[in-house]
Amino acid sequence: MSFPSQRLRRLRLREPFRKMVRETRVSVDDLIYPLFVRSGENKKIEIASMPGVYQYSLDTMVLELEEVHSLNIPAILLFGLPERKDELGSEAYSPRGIIQRAIKTIKESYSELIVITDICLCAYTTHGHCGIIENGMVDNDHTLEILCKIALTQVKAGADMVAPSDMMDGRVGAIRTALDGAGFSHIPIMSYAAKYASHFYGPFREAADSKPQFGDRRGYQMDPANVEEALREIALDIEEGADIVMVKPALAYLDVISRVKEKFGYPLAAYNVSGEYSMVKAAGMKGMIDEESVMMEILQSIKRAGANLIITYFAKEAAKMLQK
Ligand code: PBG
Repeated sequence: MSFPSQRLRRLRLREPFRKMVRETRVSVDDLIYPLFVRSGENKKIEIASMPGVYQYSLDTMVLELEEVHSLNIPAILLFGLPERKDELGSEAYSPRGIIQRAIKTIKESYSELIVITDICLCAYTTHGHCGIIENGMVDNDHTLEILCKIALTQVKAGADMVAPSDMMDGRVGAIRTALDGAGFSHIPIMSYAAKYASHFYGPFREAADSKPQFGDRRGYQMDPANVEEALREIALDIEEGADIVMVKPALAYLDVISRVKEKFGYPLAAYNVSGEYSMVKAAGMKGMIDEESVMMEILQSIKRAGANLIITYFAKEAAKMLQK
């Protein structure tokens, strides 16, 4: 059957028809809002390369969460800026660390909010790498021990879910075993399973002060050229016990999202990363694009590609648009 009996425009002519046949809907329930926390009082420091994104001290963080809560955003992803960095990133696993304190503070006021914690060392180490350095290299297996310690202190402080983003081999299995052994078999793991060595993370490294002081992250994060390897990463993380797998970044990797969803049919998150956010913001501020519409189109595309959850700095703005 074809034209003239087939006319696809018939169902495009009016919004009620368009709504009836819409295949993808972004919902506020899909959104995860990243938040940067630091020590101090009454601090709310804007990230120069991420307009509208701030580092919060615990008191201003609570005010921000009031808005997040009122917009019905179900989950946040926490990143911390430690008071002091060292070779081992020890503040990351201190029971008095910034993240551990932030979780306790959040749980006092917003017990329903899902608090997801990033597990990584780059913001906590003097060298800015995601693992422990031995003989000038990131040592995989030594790093695993530290990652487990981080996970345990975060979960003991009240984290609802942990999200390892370091890209060491075997970390999902190691963290799963550590959590299970300490009575936390009910705590899910969202693994940054296919995380690429991307230049789209530039603004985040300003926000989290986590730039590597020598070399780069290509020895542990994935080569942007590869998709077969992404499928292997995902398969391994699922085998090791990941509950949700992630593709990161999102926008330049929609094909990866789509392949992963098709092959595994597993709960899938996509990280709409800092550089993707900043590009839209910059173009919007210059009047080059309609920022809100472009934002919604991007979120919809990430969902259409196959993601169930979207981690995005646009979460609040998107939630507002979705209420309209
Ligand atoms: C930590 C981490 C990074 C991001 C999330 N967790 C940066 C990196 O790997 O250098 C990037 C998030 C973003 O760009 O928004 N390893």
